[in-house]
Amino acid sequence: METLSKGQVALITGGTKGIGKAIADKLSNAGMQVVVTARTAPKENTTGQYFISADLAYPDSAERVAKEILEKYGRIDIIINNAGANLSPAGGFSALSDEHWNNNWQLNFMSAVRVNKALLPTMIEQKSGVIINISTGAAKQPIWEMTMSYSSAKAALNVYSKALANELGAKGIRVNVVSPGVVETPLMLEFIENMAKSSGITSDEAFKAVMDKVGVPMGRMAEPEEVANLVAFLVSSEAKYITGTNYSVDGGASPTT
Ligand SMILES: NC(=O)c1ccc[n+]([C@@H]2O[C@H](COP(=O)([O-])OP(=O)(O)OC[C@H]3O[C@@H](n4cnc5c(N)ncnc54)[C@H](OP(=O)(O)O)[C@@H]3O)[C@@H](O)[C@H]2O)c1
Repeated sequence: METLSKGQVALITGGTKGIGKAIADKLSNAGMQVVVTARTAPKENTTGQYFISADLAYPDSAERVAKEILEKYGRIDIIINNAGANLSPAGGFSALSDEHWNNNWQLNFMSAVRVNKALLPTMIEQKSGVIINISTGAAKQPIWEMTMSYSSAKAALNVYSKALANELGAKGIRVNVVSPGVVETPLMLEFIENMAKSSGITSDEAFKAVMDKVGVPMGRMAEPEEVANLVAFLVSSEAKYITGTNYSVDGGASPTT
């Protein structure tokens, strides 16, 4: 059983829905002081979680979030860079404008870079901290029709995470990547609905098309909690020698180990 330290301060970006919410709930149920960010406030205020409104695709947001956390708690123990989405249209290289590329780059890569940069001086001073960057299996297995710029931004996140882990290992800070496959979240369900509408097929047919395209040996999508379970282990003291690694939670979808 993982050992999560009660009272630790944990930031989960995009912590109001889907995977981020499952992580936030798991950590706050374990007694951590959880801060969640999103563009819109959650309808129900989860007890024990502090909400900061921020669009992390914009450069100034990360510093504002960091300032508010440090003023309120005076420390930061865990950063989960989870806010992300595929913001580009389907259709391969010719469908992608500079703006599409930049949008995916800002949200899926630069948001994590900026949040970490704003909070790392405090972790370094503390000589402790854990960072988890949420990537995707599509960073190693891009689907050109759908994920070209999103996969590229997440692949950059993977490489950046490795470099950061190398830089921070001797300073008591661990950095890892968690790469989900397909997860049943609001983002995924919206994607399937849009695909159904644009292709003139039913939602069930679109769901099956996604599953067939990704190829999931376990034959189902993950529940957000199944990603949160891995994250909870990686931030716990049980994982204290694990850094610089990328873990898949994908029902076997990766073609190689
Ligand atoms: N679902 C999957 O199958 C899957 C697979 C692989 C990887 N992932 C990755 O897992 C992460 C979470 O995905 P999810 O499926 O849980 O997404 P989701 O259900 O759409 O939830 C995303 C969360 O991020 C917030 N968010 C979105 N855009 C934001 C922005 N610009 N600034 C700040 N917060 C923002 C959302 O709140 P607001 O909308 O209110 O801002 C929400 O809290 C993403 O990084 C995604 O790339 C997902």
